[in-house]
Amino acid sequence: MVTSWAPDSWRAHEARQLPDYPHAAVLADVEARIARFPPLVFAGEARALTAELATVAAGKGFLLQGGDCAESFAEFHPDTIRDTFRVILQMAVVLTYASKLPVVKVGRMAGQFAKPRSAPMEEVGGVSLPSYRGDNVNDIAFTPESRIPDPERMVRGYNQSAATLNLLRAFAQGGYANLLQVHRWTLDFMGRSPWAERYQALADRIGDALDFMAACGLDPETVPQLQGTHFYTSHEALLLPYEQALTRRDSLTGDWYDCSAHMVWIGDRTRFEGSAHVEFLRGIGNPIGIKCGPSLNPDTLLRLLDTIDPKRVPGRVTLITRYGHDKVEPGLAPLVRAVKREGRLPLWSCDPMHGNVVKSPAGYKTRPFERILAEVRGFFAVHRAEGTHGGGIHIEMTGQNVTECTGGAIAITDEGLAARYHTHCDPRLNAGQSLELAFLLADMLNDELRERERHAA
Ligand code: PEP
Ligand code: CO
Repeated sequence: MVTSWAPDSWRAHEARQLPDYPHAAVLADVEARIARFPPLVFAGEARALTAELATVAAGKGFLLQGGDCAESFAEFHPDTIRDTFRVILQMAVVLTYASKLPVVKVGRMAGQFAKPRSAPMEEVGGVSLPSYRGDNVNDIAFTPESRIPDPERMVRGYNQSAATLNLLRAFAQGGYANLLQVHRWTLDFMGRSPWAERYQALADRIGDALDFMAACGLDPETVPQLQGTHFYTSHEALLLPYEQALTRRDSLTGDWYDCSAHMVWIGDRTRFEGSAHVEFLRGIGNPIGIKCGPSLNPDTLLRLLDTIDPKRVPGRVTLITRYGHDKVEPGLAPLVRAVKREGRLPLWSCDPMHGNVVKSPAGYKTRPFERILAEVRGFFAVHRAEGTHGGGIHIEMTGQNVTECTGGAIAITDEGLAARYHTHCDPRLNAGQSLELAFLLADMLNDELRERERHAA
């Protein structure tokens, strides 16, 4: 039964993973203030992203979505924004070249603060405190005061998101994203990677293509598309009081949009039937991501799709699958078949991060690079077998040289994790590991391209 929707209709549903704010009046005051703040994105931009994602879902593009697991107030710095943006662009160039498809770039940036947790309490040395839930909720320091949810943090999160988005828009359109420049950064990286030989041929071919284009008169001076790029933002729409406060009615269409980001997604822990988060997301016009893990059965997914996308709008839904390297093939295949049987055409994207977390001997949460790669391979294998398009990748990464995931070319070991382990939540690929993943992914996309060409011939 479909009932009417309003930005606050989620309040009548079961809301998991939301903080217990101690003072309702303080929370209400912050919500009312944020509701008067300017929207961070414009509805027309969200529609433009939906259209780009529809192209990807139809097999004519690829989605690259990446950024921090959790943005933090402490790591807020122009260099961290710049470096993550730069690595995403570098990855996109490699993937565009290999797939011969446009790559839609979406950051987990400018709003990715709130975190779902597997346990409500965290225990350290016999002391038990409420879990850290992201910088827009409480503080990561392990003291009783730090862990009290504070609504004022939402205002700080909004301000940081606005400043981050402002810089991203400047980078994307102000000349920093120039294609030749991006390729030069990649060459610079190649000079330093122990695996450079494996990527040299592809990097050379990209360089040759750019030289050829320049000789034909196509360079960033003559072709504006080579000077800038579209860059979109996204985060998990977890903290519903904040998302509701930024939900506005579009003056052009009369539809509601969550203007906190272009795209928002629903997490694996909050997509259950009857969830407040599902109720909220069904009413907003933004493109929606749905995290799909081992606990989701195909029938439940089909019902969820009927709720979130009853009109089957192309580009509306991205299914972000996160199984784990050893579960992806048996888990994903039945889901893909069920969705295909229903005649639905979502964008399928692979999150090879959240099913591959392990604890290092010293207690660090980490992810082995080989497992990440294995999940991506399994994802493409399933889509090849089912005749569907493996259309995207969703990763936790940073442009900084952190040591949070093991493996990769500069083989980070369990012992090496302590050196620069800075994440506020899950371990991220560092700049080198992210680019390495793009080069390895390029081979898989290139295989898909060959397959397409064979079918077309
Ligand atoms: C995340 O993307 O950071 C996350 C918590 O993912 P999931 O909901 O898939 O566990
Ligand atoms: Co995460």
